[in-house]
Amino acid sequence: MKVIRSAKRISGTVTVPGDKSISHRAAILGAVSSGGVTVRNFADGADCASTLGCLQKMGAVVSKKGSTLSISAPSGLSSPAGALDAGNSGTTARTLCGLLAGLPGLEATLAGDDGLSKRPMLRVTEPLRAMGASITGERGGDNLPLKITGRKLRGATHSLKTASAQVKTALLLAGLSTDEPTTVIEPLKSRDHTERMLTHLGIPLYMDGNSITIAPSRPLSGGEWTIPGDFSSAAFWIVAAAILPDSCVVLGNVGLNPTRTGLLKALGRMGLACTVEPLGLQGGEPAGTITVHSSRLKGTEVSGAEIPLMIDELPILAVAAAMAEGTTEIRDAMELRYKECDRIAVVAEGLTVLGAKVTELEDGWRITGPSKLTGGRVSSAGDHRAAMAFAVAALAADGPVEIEGHECAAVSYPGFFSTLDRLAGRGEDR
Ligand code: S3P
Repeated sequence: MKVIRSAKRISGTVTVPGDKSISHRAAILGAVSSGGVTVRNFADGADCASTLGCLQKMGAVVSKKGSTLSISAPSGLSSPAGALDAGNSGTTARTLCGLLAGLPGLEATLAGDDGLSKRPMLRVTEPLRAMGASITGERGGDNLPLKITGRKLRGATHSLKTASAQVKTALLLAGLSTDEPTTVIEPLKSRDHTERMLTHLGIPLYMDGNSITIAPSRPLSGGEWTIPGDFSSAAFWIVAAAILPDSCVVLGNVGLNPTRTGLLKALGRMGLACTVEPLGLQGGEPAGTITVHSSRLKGTEVSGAEIPLMIDELPILAVAAAMAEGTTEIRDAMELRYKECDRIAVVAEGLTVLGAKVTELEDGWRITGPSKLTGGRVSSAGDHRAAMAFAVAALAADGPVEIEGHECAAVSYPGFFSTLDRLAGRGEDR
């Protein structure tokens, strides 16, 4: 448990860890590329370590110097001895399903921690089976552990019911090994890191609206580039600086991929005082510096196509909404119930304990502010983003907030609490 005390203000410069989504993809594509991949600023959280662990168990060669990662698999990937452990990482489990299903001769069991073992997997196993994949597992293949027997897959056209970058990525990775084209049609656009990275590594994709077709005609080349900072980690400091008085935070080299930065648009409507200075592309991904000042926020509405563009930032948007004047309504976010915890329920419960006026809706929240947050005891429910969102709320509360299970922040942001102390003027990052 961790106690977070209120802060009068926060200020300083932050370099957030490398983007988690991009890091997973760089590791996976590096392990199946002809020349291997070297990336600087590889994400240091537990989730990406899970992906690396799985790939190493299948013969990938990994070397790490500081945050620079090199990965290749000179003899290809082969059946691991023992189960692959995806830990808490949905991205690891779902994307590896797609990759392994199309590797003939490879047999693997994919397992995860208790939380991950409850999360839905049919969203990947069903469309992969339609391509000829052999995947068996708990509850008909809806839960880990899953047993995957790699084989030659057929190309297919998939119309997804839910916008999910993990599912899209699994199917595009499966499509890497088919002779016929594979098409994925999303109902709404989700993060497009896989498309950008495949293109960067020399695989042409055909994109038309929300439809992506992969028809690989050549092997994946290798590459070397720098991964931008994770916008989802930056989001906590963006909101913290906005809701605290006299604050200013400068976030250097943050990913600015428009399929990730929906939070900036929503907060912009709410009155965020912020400047963005683009730095150009890194490995096909836009990056830049974000400077945020204390802001007078007012309520807004967020729904529909905006939701996938800020899916991981909705818990911290809820904190901003609690401190904003008027009502904020967040709808069409039912997917939050299937994340590392039921984020709709856990965020509603925690913010209510701290004195916010939150109504839990089936697919989101109605939040009326501005709240005078109080101290109290909240639970992360084992969810890194809930833990960090509550920590930011605690900075604005008028009494100490105890966060049960705060350690899970390390899933995506191991240095989060020491950076919080430094920005609040309580000491240096360790
Ligand atoms: C991710 C996609 C998102 C996001 C998750 C990471 C990815 O999930 O919530 O944290 O790296 O592809 P969806 O599959 O629901 O888009």
